[in-house]
Amino acid sequence: MDNSFHREENMDMEESCESRQAVPHRRGCGGRRRHSFFFILAVSVLLFFCSRNMEDVASDWRPTFWMQYMATKWWTRLKTEAFLNVSTNNLFGVTSETSPVSQSPYIVAYPHEYHFIINEPKKCEDQKSFVVLMVPVAPHNRRQRDIIRRTWGGNRVVLGKVVTVLFLLGLHTGEPVPHMEEHLQQESIEHQDLIQSSFQDCYNNLTIKTMVMLEWLNFYCSEVSYAMKIDSDIFLNVPNLITMLLNAQKTNYMTGLVAREAAVLRDHTSKWYLPVDIYPKPQYPRYALGLAYVLSLDLPKKLLEASRHVKAIYIEDVYLGLCMEYLNIPPTDPPNWDYFQVFPVPYNRCSYSRLVATTLDNNTDLLWVWKDFNQAGKSC
Ligand SMILES: *[C@@H]1O[C@H](CO)[C@@H](O)[C@H](O)[C@H]1NC(C)=O
Ligand SMILES: *[C@@H]1O[C@H](CO)[C@@H](O)[C@H](O)[C@H]1NC(C)=O
Repeated sequence: MDNSFHREENMDMEESCESRQAVPHRRGCGGRRRHSFFFILAVSVLLFFCSRNMEDVASDWRPTFWMQYMATKWWTRLKTEAFLNVSTNNLFGVTSETSPVSQSPYIVAYPHEYHFIINEPKKCEDQKSFVVLMVPVAPHNRRQRDIIRRTWGGNRVVLGKVVTVLFLLGLHTGEPVPHMEEHLQQESIEHQDLIQSSFQDCYNNLTIKTMVMLEWLNFYCSEVSYAMKIDSDIFLNVPNLITMLLNAQKTNYMTGLVAREAAVLRDHTSKWYLPVDIYPKPQYPRYALGLAYVLSLDLPKKLLEASRHVKAIYIEDVYLGLCMEYLNIPPTDPPNWDYFQVFPVPYNRCSYSRLVATTLDNNTDLLWVWKDFNQAGKSC
């Protein structure tokens, strides 16, 4: 389910990529003129978007998408850090203590005692991992798991550091698949990389998946340095990830594509709609976009504590942002602004050698990309 969701996003992206390519490149026309044309275009786009209400722009844009739009490139350069850090006060719109958890569809069943049906309790300890890659994936999506095992999930040791990959599943929902549980048990025996918990695995329960992931990390992986939550349709440059982490803060560290001042979507037809009574402020605090984010493993314990006080909204990356706000630990920007890409970067070995993680568009075959990317001899 999470996959089809991303594909939809990707299709939006393809369209905008095509229209960008459609701008004719007039050779010999003087780079200066072209530059100023693009500059004026950029400024008008900026003014256009700023002057409009978020809801009018695209009701289905994920808040994260909107933020990515605002957070990157010229935008970051235009805004000063001081302006970005308009401090949010300590009034948490979402506090489970003040209002009892309702039957609201925007709140998920968490905290709650879920249990593990399939587990790998010794994995981190046995492997002495440096970083654990946690990949949420729907139970029936064996195909995607196999692709990850054959690509970025396949290398145990990278730059001398142990990388562990685990897939996070809930209970299958939707059309019944015969012998699903037996197949999962079999797959688990074969690969020893599945963790399955007892909640219903569907898109609106992703927050539960993430919180169960934190419980698992806290319980079984507290000796490990870092974890990364990464979606299954992402290209991951593992050496760049390791290099980034070797130079990173050891505690209170969360990084990824950090969204700032993301607007709360109030149009009820939007996929990421959140009503005012659930979250009254117009903007979310800083949060790392859900496609791929890293945390130091002192954080799961703190986030779990925070989750007892912050109402569990269904938008998982925003929810972690709210918990981080509660802890007063802002997510950190990566050392390079272009390390994490939510808009699919078209494959080319040079650009992929510089990033850490990018969404892939629907038509990109990760197996092929991986093969080409790792081909020795062909420099970029
Ligand atoms: C990928 O794109 C094709 C056509 O562009 C579409 O038919 C297909 O449903 C998409 N796949 C997913 C999983 O969204
Ligand atoms: C989310 O999971 C909980 C626990 O399994 C379940 O009660 C609930 O119905 C699920 N939500 C959705 C939208 O399926």
